Amino acid sequence: MGTFPSGVATGGTHVHDRSVRWGVLATGPMAAAFTEDLRTVPGADVVAVGSRSRQTAQAFAERFSIPRAYGSWQDLADDPDVDVVYVATPHAHHLAAATLCLEGGKAVLCEKPFALNRSQTESMIATAESRSLFLMEGMWTFVNPLVRRAREMTGDGLIGEVTSVHADFSARVPVVPGSRLRDPAAGGGALLDLGTYPVSFAHLFLGAPDHVSAWAHLNDDGVDESTAMVLGYDNGAVAVLSCSLAFSSATGAVVYGTEGRIEFPADFYHPRSFVVHRDGRAPQVVEAEPRVGNGYGHQALEVMNCLREKRTESALVPLRGSLDVMTTLDRVRALVGVRYPGE
Ligand SMILES: NC(=O)c1ccc[n+]([C@@H]2O[C@H](COP(=O)([O-])OP(=O)(O)OC[C@H]3O[C@@H](n4cnc5c(N)ncnc54)[C@H](OP(=O)(O)O)[C@@H]3O)[C@@H](O)[C@H]2O)c1
Repeated sequence: MGTFPSGVATGGTHVHDRSVRWGVLATGPMAAAFTEDLRTVPGADVVAVGSRSRQTAQAFAERFSIPRAYGSWQDLADDPDVDVVYVATPHAHHLAAATLCLEGGKAVLCEKPFALNRSQTESMIATAESRSLFLMEGMWTFVNPLVRRAREMTGDGLIGEVTSVHADFSARVPVVPGSRLRDPAAGGGALLDLGTYPVSFAHLFLGAPDHVSAWAHLNDDGVDESTAMVLGYDNGAVAVLSCSLAFSSATGAVVYGTEGRIEFPADFYHPRSFVVHRDGRAPQVVEAEPRVGNGYGHQALEVMNCLREKRTESALVPLRGSLDVMTTLDRVRALVGVRYPGE
């Protein structure tokens, strides 16, 4: 583990000449994947884990050689020697977990989707702002170097004016009783789990839409198995997006401009390459450089850069952007008739 030269800031607290101390909240597959990556990030120390059960926390701590294991979220939030907490619970618990940590004075990186809906997202942002603490959605696509490169290219007008985004994220998930993926109480359904990626991708290249239309096939529990969306923009741009838990796709995406297009043949949400087609020119393949870990390390680096620079928000994953995406997801759910308990 390396150390920062000086002046690491964590919300209101400043630390000098030491690593950023991470806490991990929840112990599922995503928490494990992120923690694995964190161990490869210079300047990052994973110092604590919090779980609903002390035993589970202890097992996770032993697996990743984490010094402190807590059997409650509150104990993690209260740990004075944690700078930033990574929240990796199912979506329906992001608000409660993130709020607890922010109230405990911790910076927070919270998994996607940021929350269940816009109102919860507003609440999280208000809590962070009222305490001048850093908060960021774990939308790893936005910090992916290749996606950033494509965004810079479109910003420089390489394919003319961006007029359309097509993107799909479909992954067949067999029906497993009790799984959060189809549980309304856990924010289940394709849209919040997978659809948030194509929606975020469209927002990245086109901004928040002026018009939203959608159709979804809902299962007997009232969550969406498959959803198709069209986002419209008053400037004439359009996005065609879809997601499904019923079948697996290539998870490709294309960004179209008036003078060409950028194709992401697969895994647009963490691509290994893309191809630039410019009118009248040979296609240009752009390959990814080596990743930090499995790709989650870039998020940790962004968080740590922000803390070091005493910023409470990431320019790459701005809170306004997360709020806009959640607003679009709310609009889609309203159109297709997916409501979660308590809404
Ligand atoms: N960025 C990505 O690539 C990516 C990939 C997959 C998932 N995700 C996101 O990461 C989050 C977690 O995904 P996951 O697949 O790891 O979820 P998961 O396995 O369903 O749950 C993760 C952990 O949350 C805790 N938990 C489970 N049910 C809970 C409940 N009812 N109340 C409170 N805590 C509960 C458990 O930890 P304890 O037993 O320790 O409490 C569990 O191990 C989701 O929001 C998902 O959208 C992101």
